[in-house]
Amino acid sequence: MKTFYRNALCGDLTKKEIGKEVKLTGWVDTRRNFGGVLFIDLRDRSGKVQLVVNDKTPAEVKDEAEKVRNEYVLQVEGEVIARDKETINPKMKTGDIEVLVKNLKILDTSETPPIYVTDDDTSNEAVRLQYRYLDLRKPKMQQVMKTRSDVNQITRNFLVDNGFWEIETPMLGKPTPEGARDFLVPSRLQHGNFFGLPQSPQLFKQILMISGMDRYFQIARCFRDEDLRQDRQPEFTQIDLEMSFVNKDDVMRVSEDLIKEIFKKIKGIEFKEDFPRMTYDEAMQRYGSDKPDLRFGMEIEDLSDIVKDSDFNVFKNAVTHGGSVRAILAKGAVDKISKKQMKNLENLVKVYKAKGLAWIDMKENSKSPILKFISDEEKENIIKKMGAEEGDIIFMVADNDEIALTSIGQLRLDLADRLGLIPEDSYEFTWVTDFPLLEYDANEGRYNAKHHPFTQPVTEDIELLESEPTKVHADAYDLVVNGVELGGGSLRIHNQDIQEKMFKALGFTNEKAWEQFGFLLEALKYGTPPHGGLAFGMDRLIMLLLGIDNIRDVIAFPKTQNHSDLMSEAPAEASLDQLIDLGLQLDDIL
Ligand code: AMO
Ligand code: AMP
Repeated sequence: MKTFYRNALCGDLTKKEIGKEVKLTGWVDTRRNFGGVLFIDLRDRSGKVQLVVNDKTPAEVKDEAEKVRNEYVLQVEGEVIARDKETINPKMKTGDIEVLVKNLKILDTSETPPIYVTDDDTSNEAVRLQYRYLDLRKPKMQQVMKTRSDVNQITRNFLVDNGFWEIETPMLGKPTPEGARDFLVPSRLQHGNFFGLPQSPQLFKQILMISGMDRYFQIARCFRDEDLRQDRQPEFTQIDLEMSFVNKDDVMRVSEDLIKEIFKKIKGIEFKEDFPRMTYDEAMQRYGSDKPDLRFGMEIEDLSDIVKDSDFNVFKNAVTHGGSVRAILAKGAVDKISKKQMKNLENLVKVYKAKGLAWIDMKENSKSPILKFISDEEKENIIKKMGAEEGDIIFMVADNDEIALTSIGQLRLDLADRLGLIPEDSYEFTWVTDFPLLEYDANEGRYNAKHHPFTQPVTEDIELLESEPTKVHADAYDLVVNGVELGGGSLRIHNQDIQEKMFKALGFTNEKAWEQFGFLLEALKYGTPPHGGLAFGMDRLIMLLLGIDNIRDVIAFPKTQNHSDLMSEAPAEASLDQLIDLGLQLDDIL
């Protein structure tokens, strides 16, 4: 990395360089003035090194050095020398040496930075985002950017070695009414028409299969105008791939091997076994989630048989109305959960629509609110089924299956955290397969595709498409790790007949289907290979690799909750001229 300005990097210097003359560049990290001796830590991308300015430094250079302040940009020439024994700093990579300054040039000055450029800076996030260039100078943030770059390269090498071609698809596409909301871009040359930024390259990658490309990938930017959560951004990156003449095992194999390669190269972790697989139904029954966290047990049990004739109406009614009573066992929780926390847990399940939370605390003088309603026999059977012992708490929710399972599934996650059951630095992967093809939207009174309208139904279920659409499973698969959906994909419909049935099930008229997806439907007429693919969320992958839980911390220039870039102040007003060019007029229509 030698340039006109330098011949070495700060963080690379070791004992081996002692006696060498070096020319360094970088930012002033800290400066300490001890009367006659000035110490400056100089920082570049590779790390920091200590500079010493003392009586051996020429007087005019010393004067210049006195002027430096934090974040000034310097060019320094000097000799690498060993530190005195007592000043060796074992915490610093370059802690054995220092550079005796012989020449120093201030290349640029800096105002006092509004945040500390250190990993332990506690500035408010809004300030960090406004001054992102300072924030990105922090060693931790630089490590994130390096990891992203490495993951990109590993991905490219691995996929190219496996016969994939990297092909770009358009950013300016056709708006799609399905899925999330589109970001729209007005057309100047066709007033009244809009491009939609891609929510994913889905249709184009399928068309590339019809085009005979056989294997495609792209590190693709995707745009979704949705409300943000902890692991979502309006603009994010996917590792997107598609393959021809494959079944689902083929796609899952390559995708799994890619993830294993990334973990091996970035974390040094080798996964020798195949990732386990479970169906969507199994994941829901056992964990109450389609993205189960398998780092701990606490599986959900079904108590319906035990309490179906109970005198406790809450339990009995749930079962007689086709629902169930689902339970989990919190080992040793009696001493760890206060009365107030119990109330919080009840509020938590209520967020997921449960009507209440029943519990049995396994101790003398139990305070369980339901023991007065259930018989001793029911109580004993529940305890037996759950394997509960002194000191444990059994939690139960009675409701329709969906509410009972999802609410107790969320409680499971919360309790694991409270009880410290989640091991650090552990990665538990699982594939979740056979998702429902459709989901019923009660508000709209119609079925929606759970994945997208081109997802292949499982062959044995196709005949149910008309009669019992919610029973049809999809040839779709998600890769889940530690309770996070890392990626997902499916086999695609490549047969006109099934595609028509699917549109019918979704309540699309032929006309509407053609209006929205005409170009794909037309392409499907001209010889389509069986194909399928998948996309991983790159940002989530980096979060996972580095143990970071805020998606904004893995993106160089992220957006805030209300979709602002606080540094560049996007979005911003357009000028009147721009609006006129685009044929747009702003109106207070709302
Ligand atoms: P899907 O919509 O499941 O599938 O997206 C794939 C993966 O992308 C990541 N992801 C996100 N990451 C950050 N912010 C977001 N707003 C966001 N939305 C999604 C997730 C997710 O698993 N075209 C299909 C894939 C296919 O069928 O091949 C698709 O986009 O990690
Ligand atoms: P109640 O009869 O409403 O006073 O409820 C008695 C206990 O049962 C309380 O602890 C409630 O939280 C709990 N409970 C109420 N509804 C449900 C439900 N659907 N599932 C589980 N527990 C419930």
